[in-house]
Amino acid sequence: MDVAKAHGALLREHTEPRDGAAPVPLWLLTFFLALAFWAGGYLFFYSGGFRGDVFNENQIAWGYTPPSAGKAKDPITLGKRLYVANCASCHQVTGLGQPGVYPPLDGSHFVNGPSSRLVAIVLNGVTGPLKVDNTVFNNNMPAWKGLLKDEQIAQILTYVRQEWSNQSAPISSESVAAQRAKWTTRADPLTEPEILAIPTEELPGAASASASPAAPAAH
Ligand code: HEC
Repeated sequence: MDVAKAHGALLREHTEPRDGAAPVPLWLLTFFLALAFWAGGYLFFYSGGFRGDVFNENQIAWGYTPPSAGKAKDPITLGKRLYVANCASCHQVTGLGQPGVYPPLDGSHFVNGPSSRLVAIVLNGVTGPLKVDNTVFNNNMPAWKGLLKDEQIAQILTYVRQEWSNQSAPISSESVAAQRAKWTTRADPLTEPEILAIPTEELPGAASASASPAAPAAH
């Protein structure tokens, strides 16, 4: 018998298949763990937080961000909304008030005057004779300190000071807070003499915005 032929037949034979599970080779396990680790890192850094509005793949910003967050912070927009809801019933959307009943805010020297007095008026309300631009009103305005937050009053007054013909500096919520602290124990609305007795110095936070115009131009 040919030895080569006999070996040939033996070589064609394979080991019998075995039943049961074989352990995953250690190198394969390590490889897959490394792959999963890399994939996790890749998603973390390049997913853009899975946000639809992100086109910069390097940006990481997890969590929900309202789409209009930037826009809604504009104090004029928010101030107008609050003005229409709270003040326009008396002072009107035009800011002109009603002759003999509700004084105008457009062109008013209280609105465009020192912010310390303006904020005090809105916080505490006003009662009795009040001369606004050479017309005496004798009515009542309720206090707003229990109804509006510092930020809301700041937004309303910033709007009012820059709407219609008014062109005065914005008012910060810090200045409203500082003024509110001075009037915490006050329960009654202010009278004209009391308003005029309030020091006219600008409140912290309003000073920079309402500073007098820069050095006069050399003509
Ligand atoms: C219920 C009607 C009414 C509402 C609402 C009202 N006011 Fe007045 N306001 C008055 C009256 C009346 C006076 C004058 C009070 C007086 O005669 O003593 C006045 C006076 C003022 C003054 C000083 C005078 C002037 O014209 O500059 C300012 C400033 C003012 N209000 C701002 C506001 C703001 C801001 C709001 C909204 C947060 C508001 N008011 C809401 C009735 C109102």
